[in-house]
Amino acid sequence: MGGDCSHLRISKKMLPQIFIKVVGGVVSFSRLKGLLKLQNKMESQTIKELLNYAVQTLEQAGIEDAKLNANLIGSKILEIEYTKLPFYWNKPVSEDFSKDFQKLLNRRLFHEPLQYILGEWSFLDFDVNVGEGALIPRPETEEVLLSAVEAIKTSSLRPDFKFADVGTGTGILGIAMAKYFPKSIGYLVDISDEALKIAESNLLRYSELLVFNNKKQSRVSLIKSDLLEKFTDDYLDVIISNPPYIDTEEVKTLMPEVVDYEPHIALDGGINGLEIIEKLLRQSEKVLKNNGLLVFEHGHGQRNEIKKMLCPSWKILKEGNDFADKERFFILKLLK
Ligand SMILES: C[S@@+](CC[C@H](N)C(=O)[O-])C[C@H]1O[C@@H](n2cnc3c(N)ncnc32)[C@H](O)[C@@H]1O
Repeated sequence: MGGDCSHLRISKKMLPQIFIKVVGGVVSFSRLKGLLKLQNKMESQTIKELLNYAVQTLEQAGIEDAKLNANLIGSKILEIEYTKLPFYWNKPVSEDFSKDFQKLLNRRLFHEPLQYILGEWSFLDFDVNVGEGALIPRPETEEVLLSAVEAIKTSSLRPDFKFADVGTGTGILGIAMAKYFPKSIGYLVDISDEALKIAESNLLRYSELLVFNNKKQSRVSLIKSDLLEKFTDDYLDVIISNPPYIDTEEVKTLMPEVVDYEPHIALDGGINGLEIIEKLLRQSEKVLKNNGLLVFEHGHGQRNEIKKMLCPSWKILKEGNDFADKERFFILKLLK
């Protein structure tokens, strides 16, 4: 089956770039050469054999969950659901399949996140378009959203309340909110054009869920804004946000999948990671109505510092932990 490995032909001259990309020495030059050899050996007869080679290659490159990665890449190229892969195991590998597979596998070997390679990922029961302009939605954020939904259901808000998802990224937090509350009006806010483009593609993907009273108009719109700057005072009932909250220095130390591929504007929360959160609090005090809710995610270890930032108008409804029992979010109510 000889696949096209031309883009992996490396010379010693290219070494510095390779070491920049493959952060932390996870793959050394000699090891990479070994991987190439293994790749060239992909003269497999069946899909299963090819996938087995891929698992070994990924494991040698230090990629976690190598089997899941290989199988998901395989099912993407076959355009089938992951669970149907076993039905294809004994099929012979075509030249096209082999070429496409190696291309995607090589991207993963250079630590590009699997989610970007696949082009979509799941958030609750949504399939979400993902791409390099927007943060990949995390499972912790699913919990934040579900807790927000509970808090809204037990509040006295009208069914047609107005909300903003601030720092929307792929848009999925806001889209999910609008799905849970079919009369709500939502705004997906981001400062990044790249993120807004991806959010727009997800808005289109879920447009049927988001129509307004059976009319053609959408209940959810995109807004380019520096946090809540574009909103007038006392306008919103609910603000939900997963803002950037990682300390600037810490961003550089994150795993290569994150630091080399995910947008730093989605991660970097400034000094102590709290600069954006503080600004969000100050702006929310103006833009929220009386009895409005602010739900936002934050990092482990930031809870006490955030509490010190709260003015007396905020009532804490919940200090939430995530499934790993780490400090993760606040639900606040504004009493004006
Ligand atoms: C941590 S990501 C969250 C993305 C998405 N809401 C999620 O949970 O997956 C933070 C988002 O905030 C956006 N952002 C950063 N600074 C901003 C600002 N000043 N105003 C608006 N959005 C901002 C980034 O572009 C990024 O999309």
